[in-house]
Amino acid sequence: MSGFVFNEKPIQIAEGDGVWVYDDAGNEYLDMGASYACVPLGHRHPAVDQAVKSQIDKLTYVQGSYPNAVRTSLYETLADTAPDPIGKVWLCNSGTEANEAALKFARAATGESKLVATMQGFHGRTMGSLATTWKSKYKKPYEPLAGDVDFVPYDDPEAMRAAVDEETAGVIVEPVQGEGGINPATREFLVATREATESVGAALIFDEVQTGMGRTGALWNSLRVPVVPDMITAAKGLGNGLPIGATLCRDWIAENYGSHASTFSGGPVISAAADATVSTIIEDSVPGNAAVVGDYLQTELEATLGEEVREIRGDGLMIGIEVGRGAMGHLKQLAMEEGVLALPAGRTVIRLLPPLTLTKTEADHVVDALEAVVL
Ligand SMILES: Cc1ncc(COP(=O)(O)O)c(C=O)c1O
Repeated sequence: MSGFVFNEKPIQIAEGDGVWVYDDAGNEYLDMGASYACVPLGHRHPAVDQAVKSQIDKLTYVQGSYPNAVRTSLYETLADTAPDPIGKVWLCNSGTEANEAALKFARAATGESKLVATMQGFHGRTMGSLATTWKSKYKKPYEPLAGDVDFVPYDDPEAMRAAVDEETAGVIVEPVQGEGGINPATREFLVATREATESVGAALIFDEVQTGMGRTGALWNSLRVPVVPDMITAAKGLGNGLPIGATLCRDWIAENYGSHASTFSGGPVISAAADATVSTIIEDSVPGNAAVVGDYLQTELEATLGEEVREIRGDGLMIGIEVGRGAMGHLKQLAMEEGVLALPAGRTVIRLLPPLTLTKTEADHVVDALEAVVL
């Protein structure tokens, strides 16, 4: 009997290789969810795995107050890749912690307490991040949460302008909503949000936990939009499967971050994994592949399924297929009959977040599988 509290799926994944995973009976599956977008370079990437193995032979962990060359290298890699003037990095262990830190930093740096978040947004499950998450099914059993959060409709510039005022500490936004159904924001919304926060001295946080690491065609989605936030949060793909989160920020936030800390912040092994992941993503032009194969996949899906589904939308290799209430059944059929593992986004959307090394041939395989299931 399993000791786990969740419902587990009926497939036991035992091995992985690139975009493929294998169950304990040797059946292969195309991993179109990348286990929640956590392996942008695919499973068992040699550069990341080798970096981890070498580091384990030297030093597994040292507390963050002792400088360590591997951690320093990761700080520099992240600072170098972030849009200017974002240049400071705080490391943690997950996406929710990265957001938790960003929300605390916003409060500390501004001296204000109000937060603004978006409807359908998802920012994590610890108490602060959860307070800025929209869906009540995630929040209800744990209320009351950290108060003082206003929710505005996603992608509504007017509503954002109206919500941000002198008492606002920070605004948290996913540049493309993931869990909320794969909803890309318009430039107009992001510009309005930047202007509104700037005009009152509030911090703008882009939650790039899902969009980061090249998924939408640039290492950070923030590099593709006309505004620079005050903080960018990252996790998921940052360690290519190993747990790490990061809060990247401008100087005025770093100078006033308060007293936030985490014991495991950037241990050498996890830092080696993340540094190798980010460096390989850049050296191998992985975001470029995400853009090209993502466009190709979206076009092929549109041509094959466009008439049958409500909408196909997304950015790069972050694609949602709005099928309606049958999404969960389709996902099960995809896995059991077609050997394709995908994810839901709510109850109505099939979400594709594959490794960013996906080829067009593998994309064709996915289109065939979806055609068999949806039509
Ligand atoms: C946009 C976004 N933010 C935050 C999180 C929370 O990350 P984690 O599960 O690592 O805490 C997620 C997870 O799905 C996410 O998609």
